Amino acid sequence: MLAERLMVEMGGLLCSRRSIDKDVLADRVSVDIYKLCKKEKRLLQQEWPRLLAYNPNIFRNAWMKTVHRSSSIKRTLGIVTDEEAPRNRCLIRLSTVVESFFSRIVATITYDQPAVEEACKQLGASHRQYKSRGFQAIFWDIFMLSLMDAIELSTTEYLSGSARLRMLHTCQKFIHGIVEQLRVGYFEEPTPVVPRLPKLSLTESALNKDRTSQFSCE
Ligand code: HEM
Repeated sequence: MLAERLMVEMGGLLCSRRSIDKDVLADRVSVDIYKLCKKEKRLLQQEWPRLLAYNPNIFRNAWMKTVHRSSSIKRTLGIVTDEEAPRNRCLIRLSTVVESFFSRIVATITYDQPAVEEACKQLGASHRQYKSRGFQAIFWDIFMLSLMDAIELSTTEYLSGSARLRMLHTCQKFIHGIVEQLRVGYFEEPTPVVPRLPKLSLTESALNKDRTSQFSCE
């Protein structure tokens, strides 16, 4: 329901913005992985800290919603019942690391695109190691929905009208962009590790002793 409403609202927002905000469209020449224009990136940098200040538990709430939505995620994180989720150490840790990852990206979003893209891909690839615990890429989509729900709820406390819709639309594109890159890294063929052969060097003494075939490994 929420997601559908958001899509309808976003459609309306896009139409109204098309007429009012011509420079946003002009900015689209410089779109990137998040499909955000400069103005939207500035908005995100300005509003993200405000969002977290209004609701410091936003990521925790998103994780609670996530585990509530999926018993597979619960199993992966070692949670047996919903009641124990708030005390689950893995979930508490994840809530902190994921929040700081998003915040770091917001801080660098306007100037270091290749680094942001690479960081997301690497993190996506690092999640392959959790496959044995039951991790699946679709978990990111479930988390993304839950995070958007939490953001939508929090923004009602301090934003309204078109300012709120613009923020929601920007967050949606941003989070979606991150998850897309996580997925790319997760599914990318891992670069095969070529074992390094030891360097062979001809030592002085070997040369003096026997000029034919004495080598040593470094
Ligand atoms: C956009 C969402 C997410 C981000 C940015 C993210 C990021 C991270 C980061 C930074 C770590 C720390 C270790 C590492 O670098 O691998 C981590 C660990 C982990 N993540 Fe994610 N994650 C996300 C979503 C999820 C979801 C939805 C699950 C579902 C189960 C998950 C499962 C795990 C697990 C099992 C670990 C290891 C935790 C531990 O043993 O400490 N992640 N994640």
